[in-house]
Amino acid sequence: MSALNGRRIPQSRPPQAGPAESRPTQAPAASRVTSTVRAGLGTDSPHRSVMPPIHLSSNYFFDAPGVHGKYDYTRTGNPTRDLAAGAIAELEGGCGAAVTSSGMSAIAVLTRFLSAGDLLIAPRDCYGGSHRLFTAEAARGSYDVRFFNPWEEGSFDLARALRPRMIWLETPSNPLLRITDIAAWARLATEIGAICVADNTFLSPVNQRPLELGADLVVHSTTKFLNGHSDVVGGAVIADDEGLLEEVAWWTNAMGVSGAPFDAYLTLRGMRTLHARSRVHEENALRVVDALVRSEAVAEVNHPSLPGHPGHEIAARQQSGWGSLISFELRGGRPAVDAFVDGIRHFALAESLGGVESLVSHPWTMTHASMEAPARVEAGIGQGLLRLSVGIEAADDLVADLERALERAEVLAAVARDPHTACPRAAIEVA
Ligand SMILES: Cc1ncc(COP(=O)(O)O)c(C=O)c1O
Repeated sequence: MSALNGRRIPQSRPPQAGPAESRPTQAPAASRVTSTVRAGLGTDSPHRSVMPPIHLSSNYFFDAPGVHGKYDYTRTGNPTRDLAAGAIAELEGGCGAAVTSSGMSAIAVLTRFLSAGDLLIAPRDCYGGSHRLFTAEAARGSYDVRFFNPWEEGSFDLARALRPRMIWLETPSNPLLRITDIAAWARLATEIGAICVADNTFLSPVNQRPLELGADLVVHSTTKFLNGHSDVVGGAVIADDEGLLEEVAWWTNAMGVSGAPFDAYLTLRGMRTLHARSRVHEENALRVVDALVRSEAVAEVNHPSLPGHPGHEIAARQQSGWGSLISFELRGGRPAVDAFVDGIRHFALAESLGGVESLVSHPWTMTHASMEAPARVEAGIGQGLLRLSVGIEAADDLVADLERALERAEVLAAVARDPHTACPRAAIEVA
């Protein structure tokens, strides 16, 4: 399985996760919540600060030529980044993690496991940037890629027949929130000798832990829920196998995509509130789902909490929360989308997700614009689709805002469809 062919890895591994207090020496066993809140506390021995300091230095003293301590150069290893890596690894239940400069660089590191002639199979509606990278690398012969629908009947037989080297999972998928059975795919990967990777960005380890379901590697855009404040771009790869971890760490260093210490510091700070934030994200998301389901303007709502969602039962089994990403189709198509985004106030029209602030995005023109139009259509991404990342604002404010914008979308779309029969007074009131 190794792409290293016996080469040694120069990178120091992330420290063991867990509370690292200097006093008392024997810390009591702690839950993941407590360990994350307290990650790195008491590690500053010179000044005894409670919170760990940030180490921005790019280099470290050598004791003599060729003799140095744990760290020599920050691309290769950094104490602040190692604290963040340890906390992420503990949250995901892995043996270690590599913290990278972005989610995409984490994904690029994982593709180093593939050589020319190897096949990668990935969901048709995976994140648009992953789709773009896989397609471009395949076009230049780095490896082969085949996009498929992992929730469809027959997809397991297809995978058995194709014998991929890597199976890429993203669940819930982006932007349609389709659910893939991670345990079933991990079993199949073991059966056929493939590496099973899960992009866990959409749920975060609070709501889903793919390694415990059998995946070999987990990848994150830490830009999203882990940092949670929309002020860092970062990524991480988590492994529960020492060999895979070494390989990931080696490539992260060799490719020069290690995360910056300042970003790692902010991400660690963000992670301390991940569990608390996730509770409010989810409460708010369920209120928003309810408002969308009740709206006449909405043709379809995609959220795994809904009993009618095709992946509801799998999600109930493999997730510990429903998540706060929602997508929905407006009956009025593109004119309704334009009216909706123009009328909404508490949801910013912006890329990304998982921050404290609520966001709305239009996958056709934004997150998934890099996919060819036929690929978008084939993946089920239409012009009337919108995606919400529900933040932690007051739920009543979000729902009231959403209802106003939906009403506006409905009326203006009706006017666009047929200016003569649509009710003119209603149109004037909302315009
Ligand atoms: C599911 C998923 N994976 C990966 C990425 C890429 O992460 P980044 O933007 O941090 O490079 C994104 C970005 O939106 C994403 O949504």
